[in-house]
Amino acid sequence: MARKQQGLAVVTGASSGIGYELARVCAQEGFELLVVADEPQIEAAADSIRSGCDVPVQALQADLATEAGVERVVEAIGGRPVAALLANAGRGLGDAFLDQTWHEIRRVVDTNVTGTLYLIHRVAQDMRARGSGRILITGSIAGFIPGAYHAVYNASKAFLDSFSFALRAELKESGVTVTCLMPGATETDFFERADMADTRLGQAGKDDAAGVARTGFDAMMAGDGDVVSGWMNKLRAAIANVTPAAVLARMHAGQARPQSGRK
Ligand SMILES: NC(=O)c1ccc[n+]([C@@H]2O[C@H](COP(=O)([O-])OP(=O)(O)OC[C@H]3O[C@@H](n4cnc5c(N)ncnc54)[C@H](OP(=O)(O)O)[C@@H]3O)[C@@H](O)[C@H]2O)c1
Repeated sequence: MARKQQGLAVVTGASSGIGYELARVCAQEGFELLVVADEPQIEAAADSIRSGCDVPVQALQADLATEAGVERVVEAIGGRPVAALLANAGRGLGDAFLDQTWHEIRRVVDTNVTGTLYLIHRVAQDMRARGSGRILITGSIAGFIPGAYHAVYNASKAFLDSFSFALRAELKESGVTVTCLMPGATETDFFERADMADTRLGQAGKDDAAGVARTGFDAMMAGDGDVVSGWMNKLRAAIANVTPAAVLARMHAGQARPQSGRK
């Protein structure tokens, strides 16, 4: 049952995992929703969210790795004020950098970095003009760690973690808040899709996506600058902050190197 009308929330990467759970929490808390993902599964996700709440839920299939895809989101918003933008869509890519294809590498950067920046650039202008809005960016504690065997992904999250704090500072007096959600390893389709099921990281215990989403949502509503989900991840982030980057990279290689001996 919705509590009160909170306005429109746009949630990207809402077809599964953390984004789906973020969208569910938004709906439960009374946000009208525009949910976006690249594949047709976004329709089923929207149906499932609709069945548990009484707020309008609009689904959009758009490839956020492209400017055209981001423009489709802006078109679907249709000039409505966006109360909350949850820029969550992202993808990983396991294996050694030189054994990945350029196309796959480019897709990670285009989705996680370029598409996220472009969407925020398009949507936050109006928030600033109105003097209100909330932005949640899904970064990661991976952004603190040079990610050998997941190098481009970790670097993309370092970019987002950094960008989020910088944008927040620029918008300090504007009425627009920027929050960075930094999860640790979370139980979603992420590792399978990144072809990392045969890594220590892929096989390790993980956090529950619904709990991570609730933590991120609450931080966004409180206007906090960042939140690391879970006390173990807070500890990992603290250790990463005082450990030399070369040591972190070697440790990460042990966690993310494929176990099956594939090239
Ligand atoms: N799982 C973890 O351990 C973990 C930890 C820290 C941070 N994160 C971050 O959390 C976010 C969500 O990941 P997740 O773990 O929930 O994984 P997930 O279940 O694979 O969800 C990823 C979502 O992003 C969407 N997406 C990917 N590429 C897209 C594109 N080009 N255009 C539009 N949508 C796209 C996917 O939709 P389609 O299937 O339609 O492409 C899906 O809805 C990501 O930013 C990820 O980096 C995850």
